[in-house]
Amino acid sequence: MTTLGTPLSPSATKVMLLGSGELGKEVLIALQRLGVETIAVDRYENAPGHQVAHRAHTIAMSDPAQLKALIERERPHLVVPEIEAIATPMLQELEAAGVVRVIPTARAARLTMDREGIRRLAAETLGLPTSPYKFCDSLEELQAAIDGGIGYPCIVKPVMSSSGKGQSKIDGPADVKTAWDYAMSGGRVGPGRIIVEGFIRFDYEITLLTVRALGANGQIETHFCDPIGHVQVSGDYVESWQPHPMSAKALQASRDIAKAITDNLGGQGLFGVELFVAGDQVWFSEVSPRPHDTGMVTMATQWQNEFELHARAILGLPVDTTLKSPGASAVIYGGVDAQGIAFDGVDEALRVPGTELRLFGKPESFVKRRMGVALARHADVEQARGSAKLAAGKVKPRVA
Ligand SMILES: Nc1ncnc2c1ncn2[C@@H]1O[C@H](COP(=O)(O)OP(=O)(O)O)[C@@H](O)[C@H]1O
Ligand SMILES: [Mg+2]
Repeated sequence: MTTLGTPLSPSATKVMLLGSGELGKEVLIALQRLGVETIAVDRYENAPGHQVAHRAHTIAMSDPAQLKALIERERPHLVVPEIEAIATPMLQELEAAGVVRVIPTARAARLTMDREGIRRLAAETLGLPTSPYKFCDSLEELQAAIDGGIGYPCIVKPVMSSSGKGQSKIDGPADVKTAWDYAMSGGRVGPGRIIVEGFIRFDYEITLLTVRALGANGQIETHFCDPIGHVQVSGDYVESWQPHPMSAKALQASRDIAKAITDNLGGQGLFGVELFVAGDQVWFSEVSPRPHDTGMVTMATQWQNEFELHARAILGLPVDTTLKSPGASAVIYGGVDAQGIAFDGVDEALRVPGTELRLFGKPESFVKRRMGVALARHADVEQARGSAKLAAGKVKPRVA
């Protein structure tokens, strides 16, 4: 394990978060509680995590030169990617040179920043069940892939994108060009490659939070949290709950898939494995080698939430994934495009029994930007979902 010292002294254990949004902020808080010296990095000033770290930096994390210079200046023991849009080849170089340890590994960060790397690993190397898919570089290739077997309906996604950006469903030939154009506008690094996937008619989808942590014998052990159910609207999460009821067979298949993919990615830390389920059948969708947005529910439901689990696992400390209570989360969107917004109705929201709120403190709001989350606990998970949605709906962001 990593010896823990005193922050801001020569004995400090220093951890740098690359990406300091609402998820990074909670990881930083968990690290602060263990006396870790924290360095928050994001592409804009006053990001949520900047506000709770020992030091804050604003750089273009996708620029290898800026990233290298900052890591060499700060010399953190661990670098923890919180987002996908990072110069991961540079992280691989620095890791290989022994300059820094990347969580969970630089290779995992690189493979998962691009839908192609992770999909080919899962489906072609590991043989895990996935939707049928093809990668395409033009509208003609997309049409050929659909006609050649993917069929309708299908889903188009830029290979470099997240939170549903540039993603759309194609129901028939009339939608193909629209989906292509939309994908070209929504990718992270300008126009480029897309994945087209056959549409899976799942009964439900889950995130299986999977933790690789050191056991007492110094060996890596894999721990699973209870499955998290969620609802996505336009590829973005709006609601999640835990536990999601599953058949024993589907749960076992989910754990087997999660174990296979996380074993291959390696390292220490928490992963969010996204799976589609129909009956006892399970498909791998994608994996985040870091806390997952749908896992914010664990701030209400687990003794150690996903951020604490990540912090402990990366430091080589023991973890406990036990559920404390069933519960739910519901997203609070900005609703307005404005800087420095105010939130009405927070008192009303917190009067809903068994609820809590997190307001992320993002300096700028957009209509569809996630600005906060409502959390609810209840012995009955359906009741918890109702309470979380009720509380979230009472919070009214407005121009200040
Ligand atoms: N092949 C598919 N079949 C059915 N639904 C899908 C498929 N791919 C994605 N989705 C839906 O879209 C959501 C977002 O897709 P995902 O690949 O997870 O993108 P992102 O990286 O933006 O989260 C999924 O959680 C699921 O609800
Ligand atoms: Mg996803």
